[in-house]
Formats: sequence, structure tokens, C-alpha cells
Amino acid sequence: MREEKIIILDFGGQYKQLIARRVRECGVYCEIHSHTLTAEKVRGMKPAGIIFTGGPNSVFAKDAPSCGRDLFELGVPVLGICYGSQLMAHVLGGEVKTAPTSEYGQAVVTVDEEASPLLKDVRKESTVWMSHTDYIARVPEGFKVTSHTAKCPVASMEDAVRRLYAVQFHPEVLHTEEGTKILYNFVRGICGCRGDWQMSAFAEETIRELREKIGDDHVLLGLSGGVDSTVTAALLSRAIGKQLHCVFVDHGLMRKNEGDEVERIFGEGGSFRLNFTRVNAQERFYRKLTGQSDPETKRKIIGDEFPRVFGEEAGKLAGKVRYLAQGTIYPDVVESGDGSKSDVIKSHHNVGGLPIEVVRELGFDETPIEPLRMLFKDEVRRVGLELGVPKELVYRQPFPGPGLAVRIVGEITPHKVQIVQEADAIFREELHKAGVDKDLGQYFAALSNMRSVGVMGDHRTYGLAVVLRAVLTSDFMTAEAAEIPWDVLKICMTRIINEVEGVNRVLYDISSKPPGTIELE
Ligand code: XMP
Repeated sequence: MREEKIIILDFGGQYKQLIARRVRECGVYCEIHSHTLTAEKVRGMKPAGIIFTGGPNSVFAKDAPSCGRDLFELGVPVLGICYGSQLMAHVLGGEVKTAPTSEYGQAVVTVDEEASPLLKDVRKESTVWMSHTDYIARVPEGFKVTSHTAKCPVASMEDAVRRLYAVQFHPEVLHTEEGTKILYNFVRGICGCRGDWQMSAFAEETIRELREKIGDDHVLLGLSGGVDSTVTAALLSRAIGKQLHCVFVDHGLMRKNEGDEVERIFGEGGSFRLNFTRVNAQERFYRKLTGQSDPETKRKIIGDEFPRVFGEEAGKLAGKVRYLAQGTIYPDVVESGDGSKSDVIKSHHNVGGLPIEVVRELGFDETPIEPLRMLFKDEVRRVGLELGVPKELVYRQPFPGPGLAVRIVGEITPHKVQIVQEADAIFREELHKAGVDKDLGQYFAALSNMRSVGVMGDHRTYGLAVVLRAVLTSDFMTAEAAEIPWDVLKICMTRIINEVEGVNRVLYDISSKPPGTIELE
């Protein structure tokens, strides 16, 4: 068990992941759990502190998420944020009221109690981010008001004796100027955490835990070449070596040389000791995709075929393998707003890339091994580097499961795959050379299904048009086209037309998302 841990209780707040991030930035490990956890369970987890998230409810609503008084009596420091602060006031006998209008956005907070441990070294006046309608009108017995804003009489309150703290504003968002300091004061000051949560410690500890759990059993992992499954493989290989079986299904829709790279690292002669099988299923996928040009149909064909191929390989290991492993990461686990639906995403219909019926039929354990389950993407990357996974793999941009199929508009043929692979390799190489790749969210070449007339030398051509796309995005939900310097685009255009057979035009996609998507299909 990790020694130093903060428990974040989720009351439906949209910023819970942000809270977790900030806590980890203080060097302290934390986990998000549903607010329905009993005080007894929380005690059993031995947290150094508890944070209540915000949430969209009012404490007066009939089914509003709540908590018992006993949570405040564990002797563990508690920090309530937004709804969490109102709930603390409500449960402990203070008074919460509903304001006639909501307070939303930035506000200036004034510190009233400079001696507050939570507000230590916080400026007398600073900007905070507010988002609430209810407010604390009267603090519970034993509490005092430590700050206020023009509209909010209790911007923060505390009972330093019982170590209970609450803030109406959101310290986790960057608009709250002193937010990071406030969270630091809580976890490092009030909770007394040392802040030695590091990726090296995580890797070591996880390897030990995996060894303990797995014992002499064997584990099967589907490797996609993506960061998450790659780092999962690295961790498991360090933990159990040859008891790990990795199956890499090459569907023929990877980027240039990608399949070979995965094989070089994990196959014979690579730096990881494990059993590695590459299934060259290119022909099989191409055959199924022949004549298909509808985007959804193409996706479905790949989505159905993949587990079939993987299942056939898995079948060869039935009787030998006990566990399936999976590269689930934290954002996959914590998706829902109210905490109650967490875990639904990958757990029930699909275990380690196989439908649950197949898992049962083959006699594998129904609970997958997911060593990265509690990590954010950048943490996964840091673990990868710790374990010696090459930088190129660790910092790969996201790549869709159906691969180049969503970057080839219309029917897929092996020739088109080759065109897009070559053009993409050139585009990535040139952006890297020009040093403009660092700030891009995603960038790649795609292939339109447009044929047009051109002229090369003395010949008329009737070739395909490559589409170059580079977007700026932080969350992949929205994106805008990046302004790639014209001279860089020109170099790409010249090289692609000269070096990639069958292409006579290069287009740059300037659409944003929405209304466009990042991928073309
Ligand atoms: P769109 O094209 O929807 O893409 O704007 C948003 C992000 O999701 C990735 N993407 C996928 N990832 N399977 C995946 O694993 C898919 O089917 C898929 N489709 C899109 C895309 O690369 C971008 O990062």
C-alpha cells in the first residue's frame, strides 16, 4: 500500500481530474473515489487527507450526494471545494442558502485570517474562480471565516483544531491565482505529506505488486504500439519477464515502419525480455475492406476483425495464460460526472481487447491487470522513460485504433496505404526538421479520394491529392488548424509530389473542429 495518499471524494464535480493533477503536482499520490464510500472504508485506506470535489447539486435537493458526519470524525484533514464546502457546512450544522443569482467567473477574494494554515503566504487580495448559486451563510460551530469576496460572505472557512477546511472557489483551476499554493498548503502543510511521489517509486512499487499478484501465472497483453500498451508491456516485462506474452496485431494500417519498430523493441533481440508474437494480418484486413468506402462500415470492419485475430492468438495460449493485461489509464477510468458510473468504459464488454464471452470461453480471469490505471498520460510517459522505453515511442502523438483507415477517404487499397505512409513520413520529418512540431496537438498526412489532372515533365497525370493536417488542441474535443510556415509547407509539397508515386497535388486542411474533425473519417 502506498504510504502517503490523498483521497478525493467525487460529488460530481467537473474538475475532479484537475484536482487530482494538482495534488500529484505537489508530489503526493491521490485517488478519486465515489462519495458513496463509507467512512469505515475511507479509514481503511489510511489517507493523509480527504478532498471533497465540487458538484452541480444543491445540498437541499432530494437526491443530492451527501456524506455522514463520521467522515469528519476520522481525525483526517478534510478540504471541501465548492459543493464540497457547502456540504461540510450543511452536515456540521452551519447554514447554506440559495442566492438569487449565481456567481460565475472571476472574483476578488480578500483574506480575513492571515494566520490560516490553508491560506499561508496567500496574498491579501487575489483573483479566484467561482461557480455557484448556493453559499455558506453561517459557518458551523468551531469554524471561522477566513476569506470573503464582495458577493460571497464565506469564500473560505476553517476549524483548524479539527483540521477541517473549505473553499467556495476552485483552487484547482489556473484562473485562481493562489490556487496551487492553497492546495500545496493543504496536502503538504496541513496533511503533512512529504511529497515524494515520483515515477521511479511508482515503477518500483508497481513491479513488486505485479510480481506478488501474478506469482507463477502467465499474462497476455495486446500491444498496439501506442504509448499506453507499450508502457504496460515494459512494466510487466520488468515484473514477470517471460511469463508475459505480447501479441501485436499488425492490421497494415500503421504509420510507416511502425510495426517494425514495435517488433524491434519488443521482439527477439529487443531490450525487453518477454514472449512476443507479431501477427501479420494486413492481407486479412485489406481483403475485408475491399470495396468499402463508407466511414462507419470501415471502422466496424476493423473493430470486428481486430478482436477476432487477437482472439485466435489468445486461443493458442488458453490453459497457459491466466490474466489479460490492458493499458487502461486514469482518464479512461474516471469519465462520468457523478462518480457512480466510473469504470464502465472498458470493464464489462471487453477485457484486455477481447469480448467477455471469449474471455470466459478461453478460461482467462475476468478482471484484467491494469498497472497504469491510476496514471495520467504525462505520468505514463514518465514511467515509460524510467523503464527505458525509447523517447520516440514515449512521445508519440495519439494514433486512432483504426489507423490509416480514418485517414484514407473512400476505399482502402494497399497502394493508397503506402502513399499515405510515405507522405506522412515526409510531413513529420520536415515539421520536425523545421522545429515546428513541438506545439502541435496532432499532425499527419491523409489521402483524399480526389483525382485531378496535373502535368509532370511532358506527361499529363491523373493523380491523387494528399491532405496535410496539423492542429492545435489541448483536449482533442476542439481544435484549430496550425499556421505552418509557408516555406515548410512548400518543402513538404515538393518532396511528396516528387517522392510519392501517384500523387500530383498536396492540399493543406485549414478546417477547425468543429465543424471538421481532426481525422478525415
Ligand atoms: P476526431 O477525428 O474525432 O478525433 O476529431 C479526436 C481524437 O480521437 C482520435 N480518434 C480515435 N482514436 N479510435 C481511437 O483510438 C478511433 O476510432 C478514433 N477516431 C479518432 C483522433 O486521432 C484524435 O486524437
